[in-house]
Amino acid sequence: MFDKRNGLSSTTVERINDSIESATGLPNNAYVNPDFFELERECLFSKTWTCIGQACTIPDPGDARPVSFMGMPLVMIRDKQGTVRVFHNVCSHRGNQLIKEKCQLKGVIRCPYHSWTYGFDGELRGTPHIGGPGEHDIKGFDRKSNGLKPVRSAVWMDLVFVNVSEKAPDFEQHIAKLEERLFRLASAEDFSRLRPAVSYGVLELELQANWKLCLENNLESYHLPWVHPDLNSYSKLEDHYHFYGGTLFAGQGTHTYDLDKGNGAPLPLFPDWPGKLAEYPTLFPNVFLGAQCDHMWSIVIEPVAHNRTRERLQIYYLDEGADNDNYEGSRKAQLEAWTKVFNEDIGVVEGMQRGRQSPGFSGGVFSPAMDKPTHHFNKWVANTLAGILDAEG
Ligand code: FES
Ligand SMILES: [Fe+2]
Repeated sequence: MFDKRNGLSSTTVERINDSIESATGLPNNAYVNPDFFELERECLFSKTWTCIGQACTIPDPGDARPVSFMGMPLVMIRDKQGTVRVFHNVCSHRGNQLIKEKCQLKGVIRCPYHSWTYGFDGELRGTPHIGGPGEHDIKGFDRKSNGLKPVRSAVWMDLVFVNVSEKAPDFEQHIAKLEERLFRLASAEDFSRLRPAVSYGVLELELQANWKLCLENNLESYHLPWVHPDLNSYSKLEDHYHFYGGTLFAGQGTHTYDLDKGNGAPLPLFPDWPGKLAEYPTLFPNVFLGAQCDHMWSIVIEPVAHNRTRERLQIYYLDEGADNDNYEGSRKAQLEAWTKVFNEDIGVVEGMQRGRQSPGFSGGVFSPAMDKPTHHFNKWVANTLAGILDAEG
């Protein structure tokens, strides 16, 4: 039953929290109901640190990009010092949306309606004719309190995060457990050598499915033999393992990452990487990471509607691996390999969305051996919405 307060009845939450052998997953309602999607925006995404995009999409000072945070208009701007700032994308005058598409700002942010202007720090600068023709100032009008409204933000591994509620713990504290996991593979210093690929670095997908199904599919390796037969030929089901990071992440890893990259020069490697290990954490609520000895990628999951999700993959290489022409063949092969894998997933993710219109399904069951991270994620969603777990605010 749909409970307006938390979207899930207490009986449903109890069934999800059962041991994996007898638990069921989230009900269909959580995937097909637009009201539930709205509830998630307020009670999951707004309360924690949510990713709104990769910082490399606004590389130069003055670059601005509008972002829809599940319908809430935000804008990412790189200021003159190179710092990424996030604001509510709305003019303080009559509430016009300020930035409509990705652009290079010339010194100020100008509202297209009555031409009020704001600095990159959000400060209100110009209010033309506010006091009547030719009068650009007005007595008693407080510019300071009418600037753009900033959104609490942080940049980590090129990912821009926001905390809309402003009540989550500091980002450093929030992300510490994932850093601990990644820095077993390579040092923070080595990770900081990663740069976005200048060619063959991006893949954008749109899926007719709820965002949670994208996460659930990414969390398990159970589907490998049937959905990714090529990948499974060298990175087999039995080579995979699962891991958990409490309320922050869960994921899978493999011991047999394949280094063969077509005809290109071998890409620069992380020093001291542990063998052929590769790890794929899903950071809640909306980032996938892929960490391999010669590259890393992130995928930002953008929930567009209850049944529509966009994904943007960005690949990063160490040092000149990202931009030197000698590596172009390897970069091309790498992107082609990942494009194949992520395209193979679309059919089953969209199939699960269609399946959730069926009265013959109500949460399903989990394989105790293979679906543990999926169950972990279902519990995180249910318990956070039910207020049992704190979504950090
Ligand atoms: S709404 Fe922006 S200047 Fe009037
Ligand atoms: Fe997959």
